[in-house]
This record gives sequence, C-alpha cells and structure tokens, in this order.
Amino acid sequence: MFSINFVVLFTIFILQINSYELSNEFLNVQFNLSDGQIVSWNYKLQSTNVTNEKSTIAVNGTTIDCSKLLNYQQDVQSINFTYSCSDQFDDQLITIYTLRPQWEFLNKQIYFTNKYNRTITSLQTTFSILNWNITSVSIIENQQDSSKQHTTFLRTNLNSALGIFTTWQNPFGSYAVTSNNQTVTSSYNIGMNVPYLSEGFLIGFYQLSLYWHTNEINYNERIAYEKATSFFYPVAQRQQSIKHAVGWDSNDYQIDISTPHGVDEYKRLIDRCAQLGINSITFAPSNANVSSRDRSTDDWNWESVLFLTLGQQIRLEQWKPYRDPIPATIEQLLDYAALKNVKLVPYVYPPLGYRAAGKDQAWLFPSPHCRTVCASLASIEFQQYFLQLLIDFAQVTDIGGYAWDYNFFYDSNHTAYSQWRGWQWIRTELLLALPHLIMDHRYSSQFDGPWSWITLNGYTSPLLSDENPETYPILYPSLHSDKISADFMRQGNVELRIKHFAAMDAIPGFIGHQSERFAADGSVPWVDNNLRDFDYMGFSYSLLSNIATSGLNLIHTLLPARDVEEFYLLPADFIQFWSSWLKWTDEHIEEIRNAIPFNTEQDWSLMRCNGHDGFLFLFNPNYKQVTRTIQLDGKLNLRYPDQQGYWLLKEIYPQERYLQLVEYNQTISLLLDGQSVTVYELIFPSTFDQAILVGISGQVYFANEYTLMIDGVYGEAGTETEQSVFIILPSIKSITNVYLNGIEKRFEQDRQFILLTDSLIFPGLYLPRSAEVLNSSILVSDLLLEQLARRQAQYPLPWQEKELNDASWLGPHRLLLFICILNPNDQWNITAEINHTPIQVHKGYNTRDHIDRDRFMGYYLDLTRVVTQANVGYELTLNMPTLNPGQFQGLFLENIERILVRP
Ligand SMILES: *[C@@H]1O[C@H](CO)[C@@H](O)[C@H](O)[C@H]1NC(C)=O
Ligand SMILES: *[C@@H]1O[C@H](CO)[C@@H](O)[C@H](O)[C@H]1NC(C)=O
Ligand SMILES: *[C@@H]1O[C@H](CO)[C@@H](O)[C@H](O)[C@H]1NC(C)=O
Ligand SMILES: *[C@@H]1O[C@H](CO)[C@@H](O)[C@H](O)[C@H]1NC(C)=O
Ligand SMILES: *[C@@H]1O[C@H](CO)[C@@H](O)[C@H](O)[C@H]1NC(C)=O
Ligand SMILES: *[C@@H]1O[C@H](CO)[C@@H](O)[C@H](O)[C@H]1NC(C)=O
Ligand SMILES: *[C@@H]1O[C@H](CO)[C@@H](O)[C@H](O)[C@H]1NC(C)=O
Ligand SMILES: *[C@@H]1O[C@H](CO)[C@@H](O)[C@H](O)[C@H]1NC(C)=O
Repeated sequence: MFSINFVVLFTIFILQINSYELSNEFLNVQFNLSDGQIVSWNYKLQSTNVTNEKSTIAVNGTTIDCSKLLNYQQDVQSINFTYSCSDQFDDQLITIYTLRPQWEFLNKQIYFTNKYNRTITSLQTTFSILNWNITSVSIIENQQDSSKQHTTFLRTNLNSALGIFTTWQNPFGSYAVTSNNQTVTSSYNIGMNVPYLSEGFLIGFYQLSLYWHTNEINYNERIAYEKATSFFYPVAQRQQSIKHAVGWDSNDYQIDISTPHGVDEYKRLIDRCAQLGINSITFAPSNANVSSRDRSTDDWNWESVLFLTLGQQIRLEQWKPYRDPIPATIEQLLDYAALKNVKLVPYVYPPLGYRAAGKDQAWLFPSPHCRTVCASLASIEFQQYFLQLLIDFAQVTDIGGYAWDYNFFYDSNHTAYSQWRGWQWIRTELLLALPHLIMDHRYSSQFDGPWSWITLNGYTSPLLSDENPETYPILYPSLHSDKISADFMRQGNVELRIKHFAAMDAIPGFIGHQSERFAADGSVPWVDNNLRDFDYMGFSYSLLSNIATSGLNLIHTLLPARDVEEFYLLPADFIQFWSSWLKWTDEHIEEIRNAIPFNTEQDWSLMRCNGHDGFLFLFNPNYKQVTRTIQLDGKLNLRYPDQQGYWLLKEIYPQERYLQLVEYNQTISLLLDGQSVTVYELIFPSTFDQAILVGISGQVYFANEYTLMIDGVYGEAGTETEQSVFIILPSIKSITNVYLNGIEKRFEQDRQFILLTDSLIFPGLYLPRSAEVLNSSILVSDLLLEQLARRQAQYPLPWQEKELNDASWLGPHRLLLFICILNPNDQWNITAEINHTPIQVHKGYNTRDHIDRDRFMGYYLDLTRVVTQANVGYELTLNMPTLNPGQFQGLFLENIERILVRP
C-alpha cells in the first residue's frame, strides 16, 4: 500500500513541476515547462491539445536555432521562457506569454537580444491543434492593400461552435493554415538591427454567433477581434464624440491669414465651429508672411500650410518651439480660437526633410518626394527628434491635436515595417505625453489596419481615399453633392467596420463635402474665390449618414462660413438641427460603440448592450421610394427579451411619431422616401408613465379622467392611414370620449388600448415619397409651391445665375426635375419641351470644372419659372436616347420635403 501511494504522489509532483497555467475568467492555458511550449488551452469548457508551438527568428536571411530552453520566469499574468541560440553570437530568444483579466486571447511576444545588432530579417510563429477538427478557415485580407492580411479564423465542428483567431498586432503579418487546417503559421518581415521586442501575436477565442456579416466573417469573429484591440489603446477610449472640422475641406489654403480679409474669413470658420459645438478645426490656411507655396518640398506642394503655416521654417530649423516667438499672424488666430473654445489642429507631414544641425545625417536620405532629402521614419534618432518637436510645438501653441498626412514610407533602404513601427512609436509616445491630443488622419492610414488606428485617439483616413469630389465616384445618381459624398462614405465605413474590424473610435466621418480642387485646366486655383457651396438640402442626409456610421468622429468638411451670406443667412433652426444631432451622439455613446451595418442595403443598427433599446438608421440612396423589409432579430443586435412585452417602434427622423408595436423575430416593412435617411428608435418599455399615441404623429393627453385629447396630428397630403391608430394608456381605466384635433372620434377600448375606429384621411394632392412624376404631366400643389417659396424666405441667398447653373445643389428654393439615369453619358443629346415649348436641359456635375466626365450626375430641368401654377397640368415631352433596360430610373421633383397636412 505504502509504495503505491508513493508512486501517485510522485506523479502529481512531476506534473506540477512540469507545467504552468495562466488563467482568467475566460481562458486557461497550460505550458510545458520543460520545452516552454503551450500544451493545451481551455475555453468554454472545451479543452484543446496543442503541439509544436514555437517561434523562430531569421537573422541575415538565415533561421537560427534558438531551441535550447535555459530558464523561465513567471508571475500571475505572464510567463516567459529564455532560450539560447546555437550560433557563435551568444544571443537569446525569449518568448513572453501574457493573459490579463478580461482577455479572451493569449498574447505572445518574442524578444531577441541581438547583441551585435545583426539585421533581423523575419519572425515566424506556429502551432498545431490536435484534438479539434477545424472544418472551416478564413484568412482575411486587408481590402485596402491586398499584400497584407488581418487575421485567420479557424472554426470547429463542435456543438459549441468554437473558433480561434490569430493576429499580429501590426499590419504586416502573413498567415498560412496547413495540415488539414490544424496548423497555423505566421510571419512578417522586420529588417531592423537592434535588440528587438515583437508586437504581440494574439491567439483568441470565441463562440460563433448565428449571424454572419459576410461568408468569411461571423458576428462574433468581428466582435472578438475588435474587442481585442480595445485593450491596447494608449489612452482611455473617449466618453464623448470628436466634433471636428477640417479647414482643408473648406479649401482653407485659399485663405491668406496675412490679410485682414483672410483673417475675417478664418474667424467666421471658427465662429461657425463655436456656434455648432465643434471643438477643433484642422488649420491649414496660407500665410504670405510666414510661408510660400513655391518653397514647398512635398510632391503635392502643400508644405506651406503645415504646422499652422510654420512647416517650411520648422523643417529648416529657422523656427523652433520655445526658441522663437509665434508669428503675430498665427498668434492672433490662436487667441481668437481660444476665446471661442475652439482648438486649432495643424496639418503635419512626417517624412519631409527635417533638419537638425549635427543630428540629421542620421535620418536624411536622398528622395525626390521631398524635393531633395526626406527623413526616415526608421531612424531612431529621427523618431526621437520628431516626437520632441511635436510635443514642444503642441505645448507652445496649445493646439488640439495633429492632422497627419503624407506619411508614406519612402525610405527604400529600410523595410516598410521598420518605418511603420517608428511612426507607431511616435504616435504612442505623443499620446502618453499629451493624452488630450486628437489625431486626424488623412491619406494613407487606411492601408495600415486596426492595430495602427488604436494609437490615433482619433480616426483613420476619411472616405478611404482623397476627399475632393474629383477623386470619388458617384455610386447613385443624385443632384446633391452631399448625398454623393455620403453614399461613398457609408460604403467605406461599412468596409472599415466589418472587413477591417475597426472600432467606432477609429471610423472617420465626412459631413458635407469638399469643393472641387482643380480648375478645368488641371491647375489648383490658389486664390480666395469665395465660392458658395453649401448643400442645404443634401446636408441632413450627410449628417445622419455620419451619425450612424461614424458617430464617434463627427468630422466636418465644408462649413458655410467663408462666404459672408452663407455665413449670416443660415437659418437658426437649421443650426439647431445640426448641433442637436452632434450633441445626440454624446448621449448615445454606448449605442454608437455597438453600431453595425446589418443587411445588404447597409442599414445600421445602434443598439445598447442590453439588446433591447436602440436605433435603426435606414438608407435609401435611390430616388425611387422603396419598401424595406427587416426581421427584428439578432442580426440587428436585438436580444430576445427577458420579460414579456413588445417593442415600440418610433420614427424620430424626419417625423417624430410612434409607428407600431413589434415583437422579437417579427418582420416589418417600412416605406422609405427617395434618397433618404430615416431614423427609428426601438424602445422596450416595462411600464408606461403616460398615454402614448401610436400610428400617427401628435400628442395625447387627458382632458379629464375619462376624456382623451389628441393634438398636433399631421399626415402626408393625399394619404389615408393604413395601420390602426391607437393609444396605450398607462393603466386600465374606462374612457368615454376621444377628440382628435378638436373633433370627436369613434373608438373601441380593449384593456389598456384605445383603438380609433375610422382611418384618418389627409386631404390634398398626393406626392410619392420620392416626389416621382409618374406620367408625363407635371402637377404640383399650392403647398408644394409654398414650401419652395418659404425656403427662399428662410434662406434668402442672393443667388447668381452662374452659380446655380454650375451647381445643381445650390438654390434650394428651385423646383428641379431630375431625369434619373444610371451611368448617364454627358454626350447624349437630350431635349425637352413643356407644353410644347422647348426648355433647357441642364447637365449636372459634381465638380464645376468638368475635367472628369465620371463626375457627371445627370440631366435635369429647372422648372422654377415654368411650373408656377398649382393644380394645373404641365405636359412634358422628353427626347432621350435608347437606354438599357432598368437604366432609366424615373423623373423626380427635387428639393421637396414631405408635405404634411391636418386630417
Ligand atoms: C549579414 O549580411 C551582411 C550583408 O549581406 C554582411 O555584411 C554581414 O557581415 C552579415 N552579418 C553577419 C553577422 O553574418
Ligand atoms: C520575464 O519575466 C520576468 C518575471 O515575470 C520579468 O521580470 C522579465 O522582465 C520578463 N522578461 C521579459 C524579456 O519580458
Ligand atoms: C546596438 O545598437 C544599439 C542601439 O542603436 C546601441 O546602443 C548598441 O551600442 C549597439 N551595439 C553594438 C554591439 O553595436
Ligand atoms: C490531450 O491531453 C490530454 C491530457 O492533457 C490527454 O489525456 C489526451 O490523450 C490528449 N489528446 C490528444 C489527442 O493528444
Ligand atoms: C475529426 O476528424 C477525424 C477524421 O475525419 C474523425 O475521425 C474524428 O472523429 C473527428 N473528431 C471530432 C471531434 O469531430
Ligand atoms: C479546411 O478549411 C477549408 C476552408 O474553410 C474547408 O473547405 C475544408 O473542408 C477544411 N478541411 C477539413 C479537413 O475540415
Ligand atoms: C541606400 O543606401 C545606399 C548605401 O548606403 C546609399 O548609397 C543610398 O543613397 C541609399 N538610398 C536611400 C534611398 O537612402
Ligand atoms: C425566430 O425565427 C426563426 C425562424 O425565422 C426561428 O428559427 C427562431 O426559433 C425564432 N426565434 C425566436 C426566439 O422566436
């Protein structure tokens, strides 16, 4: 007996000394202490055996053998294993595993001592899974740069539907899954000759959801990946949205702040920000006193606007923070902005040829991209110099952040990786030093993936491209510049959210549009041309597209401020609408952080974590009205309710009204206006503290204990209510009378519900939600003509004929008729007559210069001075070329809002 017991005890002893376990509430990982490899992990009660888990490093192109385990050191959250390498350089390789609370992934890093500063060529890591069959694998490519991959997903056929993801915390990892999907191998190229600590390699775990974003990405895969990024922000995630304007997108380089006229113009931009609650503005004007365009050294000739216009002098060390005073032209605008609580944000290009006497030979290299020499982001000396410059500059100017651009990795003697890593280090250290800075990222950041965006305290490149309308396509025909940019932006933000695993923290907005940059001859007009360009009727579509798809980063483009009339004549209620939606985001941070597109139409759901309350933003980019069908289930991040009850579906934009009661899994159909955003709220009420009117706009209240009054009821002219109109009482009590807009109505009562017996009829001429002209007779109502006249009275810009002809989105009082055609050709000869009198057919372009025919929006008629009589038919005759089936979308009146009347 004694001897058997002894053997058992001895075995346990061996197991204990030979293994070590890291564990938290989700995961535990067993290591074999005799070879330093993972032997198994356990997630959601499923244990997986792992084998051959190791890392190798290549130096000077040759893999070196570092397999001799010397020792290990462990604490509660980490363990590291030190191996000696077998060549003559006496190097060591250390693998460091970390598992922190809340992590559903293990982090592995590799440290290589590199005592003789040899060139580390690449790093590879691998592991094999033994007892799970991996029946499905996806390797997710970076859609912005197909030479890069984001991650691998490995899925089991277990009932518990578990999966594993792997990713390097840099954009350069390349992944392979082999041996019947059981082995993952991943590596990246390094090209650095210092002692080296790798970015983390994450092995993460998740349980598949019933729902898939694409064939390759499950809901819970996206969540698991995004959640992993959230633990590595250098500064805490914000609890408020960023409200920023990009002066650049108001073409502020055309404003010269060395002139009084330019100063006034810039002050108006700042005033507009202050008025709307926008806290910062990318500041990139001209300043003839300080810099000049012909001294610029970047390929695009913008250097003169960098660093608040000090860029050229800073590069040449002619101006240094702390050493030299801030020029008066800049100081006066810094002071003015401070007075208005708006922070200026300079534009900065990192790789230009920054000089620093005695030091810069370490980083300058010849390159035509910076006229003569560029600075290498791979240089440690440059990284340190540049970080200090950025800190000093921020401190002496009290700026709100930086707007980066032009951070291309031009140094061909160093790997892109080593330059990326330098740039990542600079941004991280900058944030640690000055955590309040926000970072606006313009072109090129979109190539670098989610691990690059966590160091921004801001957002990646808007539109995933350049921003001027010459550069992006017209995805859906429209006469509104803001709608065209919003459609393109939403497509990019869907890609960021799903295919790049971007947190909402990193997804950029693009509110409005930038005016075109080029003249017809291809030159950049660098003059203050004072262009009026605000798209009054397209703006709300753009704003709400941004609230839904990038609600944490409300980044404005052109502000109506440079032009005096656009500045002063913008109506107060328009400003109120705008600023109240900006504020709305701060009250709904949780919903925004959970925001996802959920169907092929790219509608977005903004649901709270409870899965019960939230918002749906539905988009119809077509001119035709559409009926959208949606199933209310987990695809929308809705959760089956814990308690019995119904959701109340409420439209909150454009009208405010409760629509109907809905249940989990129910399929609903919603009629969407042409080219519209409609916002719905989903509320799961447990009790009602007041009576609620459902099915129609308006308010309901008790006139006395038994009498209900309904006021303020409006509906669309020429319609009749189809769904029942009812009132939900806070408690059951008998009602004797119901009055609607003062008129007594018949009703039935069923417990808490008061159901109006008769449908409501709204008089007048029916206008489809898309304002579609359904036959060739154009008939408008007096209310429609009044709507246009009222708009001109409220927004009385003294439009010039030329500016209206140049830009179809100006002159919102105009009655336009859009001939909506997919892929229109501006060479067609289209003619039109109204009542047998020829009328001009205009061509609309998204750029005034027409240098790119792909920016052709389509043909339209201006009926403002033709269709002037209400309720009189105007006969339209159109001569059009033969079109492909489906190409002609219809004729639509433009600049019309829903016409609401009392029943
Ligand atoms: C690495 O390669 C370079 C160039 O190929 C060579 O000059 C150098 O001596 C090599 N270093 C070592 C440590 O092998
Ligand atoms: C290895 O772990 C020990 C103890 O946890 C720690 O002090 C040491 O810094 C680690 N080494 C590396 C290279 O991470
Ligand atoms: C290796 O590089 C580091 C950092 O540049 C330097 O501090 C160290 O002296 C170098 N070591 C050798 C042996 O050259
Ligand atoms: C997995 O490991 C357990 C104990 O750690 C062992 O009993 C089992 O045989 C292993 N399975 C495989 C397939 O290696
Ligand atoms: C895995 O696949 C093998 C061979 O196809 C099969 O024999 C085994 O039962 C499978 N195991 C599980 C857990 O599905
Ligand atoms: C491995 O994954 C691929 C891709 O998902 C799949 O088609 C294949 O059937 C899997 N192989 C096995 C052995 O399950
Ligand atoms: C690359 O290095 C070589 C040799 O040191 C040098 O002659 C060349 O100018 C460098 N090129 C660049 C782009 O730095
Ligand atoms: C929802 O509907 C699907 C079928 O569309 C059904 O399989 C599922 O059980 C339903 N879920 C609930 C919670 O009712």
